[in-house]
Amino acid sequence: MPRPLDLAVAVLGEWRATGRPPRDLFAQIVPAALPAATRAELAAAVYGTIRDERRLEWALGGAHGLPFGGHARDAALLLAFRVAGGELAPAAAAARLADWTPAALLFDAVPAAERAFDAIADPVLRFGVRHSLPDWLARLLCDEHGAGAEALAHALRCEPPRALRANLLRGTRDEVAAALLQERVPTAPGAFADTALQALGDAPLFATKAYERGLFEQQDEGSQLIAQLTAPPPRGKVLDACAGSGGKTLALAALLQNRGSVLACDVHERRLAELRPRAARAGAQNLLAGVVGEDRWPEPVAAFAAAADRILLDVPCSGIGAWRRRPEARWALLPTALEALERTQQALIDRAAALLRPGARLVYATCTLRRAENEAQVEGALQRHPRLELVRAREVLGGALAQRVADPGGAFLALRPDVHGTDGFFAAVLRCRRG
Ligand SMILES: C[S@@+](CC[C@H](N)C(=O)[O-])C[C@H]1O[C@@H](n2cnc3c(N)ncnc32)[C@H](O)[C@@H]1O
Repeated sequence: MPRPLDLAVAVLGEWRATGRPPRDLFAQIVPAALPAATRAELAAAVYGTIRDERRLEWALGGAHGLPFGGHARDAALLLAFRVAGGELAPAAAAARLADWTPAALLFDAVPAAERAFDAIADPVLRFGVRHSLPDWLARLLCDEHGAGAEALAHALRCEPPRALRANLLRGTRDEVAAALLQERVPTAPGAFADTALQALGDAPLFATKAYERGLFEQQDEGSQLIAQLTAPPPRGKVLDACAGSGGKTLALAALLQNRGSVLACDVHERRLAELRPRAARAGAQNLLAGVVGEDRWPEPVAAFAAAADRILLDVPCSGIGAWRRRPEARWALLPTALEALERTQQALIDRAAALLRPGARLVYATCTLRRAENEAQVEGALQRHPRLELVRAREVLGGALAQRVADPGGAFLALRPDVHGTDGFFAAVLRCRRG
């Protein structure tokens, strides 16, 4: 069996070479036979190293970076991650690195790196190194969020809570919690959504009978609130137009208590294919699925949209709010992608708005924290489509909940990891006027 550090270096090497998601590569490269605790430690080191790459490199090599590349560089970064976490002494890390390169490297500066970051004079560079971001994203967060940018960027580097959605098709939230506790997985109720639980401790979730029986899905609480904000009427018809592998589709199916229907669409057949086994496990029987083109909906999807009570557009976006779950995303996103994303978002809004029937609602959602993809898209939609009017989040969620999860005016769902502990989400409800 290869040593854990070799496996971690192999995952990082493959990620750099192919750009494939580290989680897929981890599953492929790291033997399932490894003890669960070793796998968990290794996963934390791999994802943490990817996320913290810029911090770690600066801590080891300052402005000049590391004097070597390739596998030796990745081994040094992984070792530095463990030193930063207090799991490995600097001298032990230096000794282990000798397996990879004859070049000597001092790890002594790593534990006190925060002070070195504070001394960086350029504010954008300082922010970028401290929060492990490319300069353009450091600048973007500072411009968008001003004094709140530090807390936000810090929260986006933290481990997310293990949020679960109790599947109300299989039991109440209390029954799901009790079933998990029987399998030694204690939980606490979520802070906002009626369906949310937070798994405490680190007991494996997906090996439980409760998971096999479809009692829960792992789902951020913000995502659950978007389903709640969509608020399908009893026996309603919902088009989930950007469904991916169906996280929100399943939440909507459960809200509908298996009545009515949800049509899940996506441009990626591969993602939609994951919905079928998830739906079977969850006992969701009111679902349909269909692939759509980038630029048009096939006739049956358009006909469904025209009759729907709700069209959920969980649009492709820059994904900044989900960085805690996708450590590679901060490096994968390119500034040149933003305009194309905004164009796609606008096109999806226009397509849905043209079909929305009077009284029906379009719910626009993102997992990002950029005005251009959030409030500005909603403002643009209202200008281009006078038939649409805003339904305030407060009207749908009620004053007490909206006060905690909406913007100060109560208009939009607006969630941030530093404020709410959820991923960062934005969502707005637009209704087609009657008459
Ligand atoms: C934010 S993700 C959806 C996440 C999903 N709703 C969930 O809750 O798990 C956005 C999805 O939009 C899809 N997408 C991208 N362009 C699209 C388009 N033009 N029409 C429909 N879906 C699109 C992507 O494949 C991706 O799965």
